[in-house]
Amino acid sequence: MTGTAYIQQIQQMLLALGADAGLSVPALQQKYLGANGAFTVLAKQIAELDPNDRKAAGRPLNELKNALAAAIAAAGSAESANDWVDLSLPGKKPAVGHIHPISQAMAEITRIFTSIGFTRVRYPEVDWDWYVFESLNMPPDHPARDEWETFFVDRAPDSKKGQMVLTTHTSNGQVREMERLGEPPIRMINIARCYRRQQDVTHTQMFHQFEGLVVDTGITIQHLKGTLDYFAEQFYGPGTKSRIRPFHFQFTEPSFEVDFSCHLCNGTGCKFCKSGWHEVGGCGMVHPNVLRAGGIDPDVYTGFAFGWGVERTYTLKEGLAIDDIRLLYSGDLQFLEQF
Ligand code: PHE
Repeated sequence: MTGTAYIQQIQQMLLALGADAGLSVPALQQKYLGANGAFTVLAKQIAELDPNDRKAAGRPLNELKNALAAAIAAAGSAESANDWVDLSLPGKKPAVGHIHPISQAMAEITRIFTSIGFTRVRYPEVDWDWYVFESLNMPPDHPARDEWETFFVDRAPDSKKGQMVLTTHTSNGQVREMERLGEPPIRMINIARCYRRQQDVTHTQMFHQFEGLVVDTGITIQHLKGTLDYFAEQFYGPGTKSRIRPFHFQFTEPSFEVDFSCHLCNGTGCKFCKSGWHEVGGCGMVHPNVLRAGGIDPDVYTGFAFGWGVERTYTLKEGLAIDDIRLLYSGDLQFLEQF
């Protein structure tokens, strides 16, 4: 065979190959590169050529063969990858984080109170004795202070404001807010970390409270009760009621404990609430001494205040009986991912 005839055979094979482009990968492999494939046959025929033509014929044949083998290999791997797409398999769920349940509750509490004109404020969580106790009608050595198991900061006391403590309740925001505004009206919602020296399955040393304070002319217990009812319905759902029972706090007069009707049984009594009610926190009409401490004239203005724990407020809503409340702050994803 002459070199020209040989090149013509290569060209014919290429034309055939173009027409065969739609064949499957194994079929192409067999027809062109297999033991009796077109390339194999042509490669063998090189031996029949004039030795001077062999190089000129062999090189293009080899290059074409390598290009075809590479194309077939690429198509083959794409095809075999496709073989594994099983559309009936469930998809892979991307890991999505979410806001910590207590942060979610704080956002919801903020939304509810700001929607009726309260302003969310932040005050120090390490604060002077004056704001945490004394200005709230609890002079040094007053026995009422014992209720708040206080952490004291190891530093020299201020001559006027006393020792520095970790805030035991958000009530430290009351006089601070009066000072900030100078003059009523005041409608504050203060949500913050609080600290008490107790730790067991129902208490963490760090927890959160939210505190409401309203001071204006003509503020009465009715405004307090209406605000509590509004919160109860908004947070726990329509039909939830609030109930106030006489109690004692140094910084409110009169003082009450606050209960909400159980939203799981509509207040009829169930395994979760037992009596139909859940005790949540404290409230009352701001004591005249507290108004005075904040520079507000109690003969002109009256006010109410309330405050209690975010953790309990939240777990009640979810109907959660968490065995150990400390799990909320454990950082344990298995626990947190449930919410
Ligand atoms: N600070 C009180 C507590 O921690 C709750 C409270 C707030 C009571 C405001 C009355 C008014 O128990």
